[in-house]
Amino acid sequence: MMKVLTVVGARPQFIKASVVSPRLRHGADEVLVHTGQHYDVSMSDVFFSELGMPQPDYHLNVGSASHGEQTARMLSGLEPIFMREAPDVVLLYGDTNSTLAGALVAAKLTIPVAHVEAGLRSFNRAMPEETNRIVTDHVASRLYCPTPGAIRQLEREGIPGALLTGDVMDELVLNTPWRRDLLSSLQLEPRQYYLVTIHRQENTDDPGRLKNLVEGLSALPGHIVWPIHPRTAKRLEEDHLLGHLGSSVRLLDPVGYQDMITLEAHAQGVLTDSGGVQREAAALGVPVFVLRNETEWTDLVDSGRAVLVGTDPGQILDAVRMAPMTPYTLHLDRRPSEIIVEDLHQHYE
Ligand code: UD1
Ligand code: UDP
Repeated sequence: MMKVLTVVGARPQFIKASVVSPRLRHGADEVLVHTGQHYDVSMSDVFFSELGMPQPDYHLNVGSASHGEQTARMLSGLEPIFMREAPDVVLLYGDTNSTLAGALVAAKLTIPVAHVEAGLRSFNRAMPEETNRIVTDHVASRLYCPTPGAIRQLEREGIPGALLTGDVMDELVLNTPWRRDLLSSLQLEPRQYYLVTIHRQENTDDPGRLKNLVEGLSALPGHIVWPIHPRTAKRLEEDHLLGHLGSSVRLLDPVGYQDMITLEAHAQGVLTDSGGVQREAAALGVPVFVLRNETEWTDLVDSGRAVLVGTDPGQILDAVRMAPMTPYTLHLDRRPSEIIVEDLHQHYE
């Protein structure tokens, strides 16, 4: 039987793997490794229980550190596991340091890598994720692309043979029921609030940008709901920006997946620098304002389902006033997870 070793470590990877792993386990052995990059209950455990993810077979507990230190801990933790398990293929998701570490260890041991979310580029080399994406794609043997643009990008980089799968996150969004009682428990009315998430290094670690964001969000009309990433919560406190938040801004601890989808689906608009959140909100037909200068999900911007607004308070306000954007309904011809699992069997059985 084919043996697949999956590496996860950060919130969006638990969510993506929860779509593919159950399908994979029907006809293959899966070994699941959690690097421990995310470790708070609200950033990790909650997704395993809520989304019915199998518990990891290995947990590296690497925790937080600088990029080099964190990745180094992952490399030395993963190598003996890959050697002991000798999988037919290593399955990786997205663009985190956990993805990069899995790709490097597999490549050095000449174990094939399959990469879900291949071919995305922001063309901003200062973004840690851009390095992770490029390295992973260039050592991968099977490249699963969410969009046709991602396939074309890989071809431009001299990597042929990528497979168009669609986005596994779209698959999950469409199958997630909303929590009807959530809005009332938060005293929110549908379409009467904006939902915000911020966690990108370029936004959190630049005090000027973070201050601009705080100002811009505080000036928005109506209620603002902001489930806050621990990284951003720490920075707001360190930079003494909590007192600058307007009274309309409500900070929440990170919420579970079903709560998040419910909040996205009923928002008047979603302001975010998250890859996954911009994708999900667009899939739900909600206007998306991307708090960055560029996005790797260019298909959303090109099709008018999202707009790039950066972090300037005036630009944020103007963009929100101009909404609504192009109405959109998501259709999936085939389930991305089905295409991925079928391809793995075809190549590594
Ligand atoms: C990481 C990924 C990013 C992804 C994001 C998803 C990299 C380089 N970045 O960014 O691509 O979009 O995850 O959320 O891999 N922290 C906690 N508790 C936790 C996890 C993190 O307090 O459970 C705090 C720590 O202070 C840590 C900081 O958040 O230093 C950043 O965490 P880290 O995993 O390094 O990067 P993210 O910003 O979460
Ligand atoms: N998410 C969540 N609770 C939150 C914030 C995000 O469940 O409080 C989910 C969101 O719905 C999406 C994923 O986490 O599925 C996105 O993760 P994140 O924004 O951390 O990372 P990115 O997608 O930018 O890599």
